[in-house]
Amino acid sequence: MNIHHIPVLIDKCLEYLVTVKDGIYFDGTLGFGGHSSGILNTIGPGGTLVSTDVDQDAFSFSKKKFSDEKRIKLYNLNFSQIDIIAKIESIQYFNGIFADLGVSSFQLDTVESGFSYRNNAPLDLRMDKSKVINAADVVNSYSEEDLANIIFQNGEEKNSRKIAKVICEVRREKQIQTTLELSNIITELTPQRFHTKTLSRVFQALRIYVNDELNTLKSFLKKSVDLLIPGGRLVILSYHSLEDRIVKELFKYETLDCICPPGSPICTCNKVPRLKIITKKPISPDEIEINNNFRSRSAKLRAAERI
Ligand SMILES: C[S@@+](CC[C@H](N)C(=O)[O-])C[C@H]1O[C@@H](n2cnc3c(N)ncnc32)[C@H](O)[C@@H]1O
Repeated sequence: MNIHHIPVLIDKCLEYLVTVKDGIYFDGTLGFGGHSSGILNTIGPGGTLVSTDVDQDAFSFSKKKFSDEKRIKLYNLNFSQIDIIAKIESIQYFNGIFADLGVSSFQLDTVESGFSYRNNAPLDLRMDKSKVINAADVVNSYSEEDLANIIFQNGEEKNSRKIAKVICEVRREKQIQTTLELSNIITELTPQRFHTKTLSRVFQALRIYVNDELNTLKSFLKKSVDLLIPGGRLVILSYHSLEDRIVKELFKYETLDCICPPGSPICTCNKVPRLKIITKKPISPDEIEINNNFRSRSAKLRAAERI
């Protein structure tokens, strides 16, 4: 398998993540092992890395890649199952938890995985192929209103109502089964200069919905705070505003020492702050990295430390 995936902001990720050389680390988005390799090269001989990926191809590739590495444990599970993985490994706390959200360059470039509107493939968009509903099921069977809401909420696409309406008209004649069929519907009703943006938003919306990405991210982040040792770090790379907002809000919430309604005479919430934010503003790749790896352009890195 020919893999081109350049790990994004690798030096910064490692600088924030690895604070104890012989500590225990978690990479929730193993992919093709770019960041996991960096973590293994940074931790000492007594360190441990637990890495997981929902994608079967990514998991199989990395299992081979790390077959001689004793310090890594690999899983083919969703990162929202971090608590179950920790139990299986008898790990009470991690020293660092990392995720590099979204899809890999390999998933985008592989025609059959159907993640990119640039390639013609079955309209699927599932990272975990055991999930019951794929993108074609959504596009061909959901109501016009539900489709519009999915495209608006998960893609922030203003034309969601119009796109949903036309999808429903087309599918009355013929089911929409491929990425190209869906792309053609969208480009026909969108001015040329908005083609790329609109296609990206609609495909992103369907991908987020099919993989339940926003809910799994929320669940993963919450469990991660529970599973970090004091001084341990949570480091997250996100690629669009919906993900980044979830990370930012969770970090903010976990820094608060009171969530009582404003004007309450005394504090009754017993809220305890659990995180200290390390990156006041998210870190983005510099021009050199963007020129070298165009897909890094939208990356935002946020890091926080367990109190
Ligand atoms: C951007 S890539 C990670 C690339 C990796 N850091 C590297 O350098 O090779 C994201 C990976 O996360 C996986 N992924 C996305 N959401 C996931 C989830 N909820 N649980 C586990 N893996 C997930 C995808 O299948 C993909 O392989």
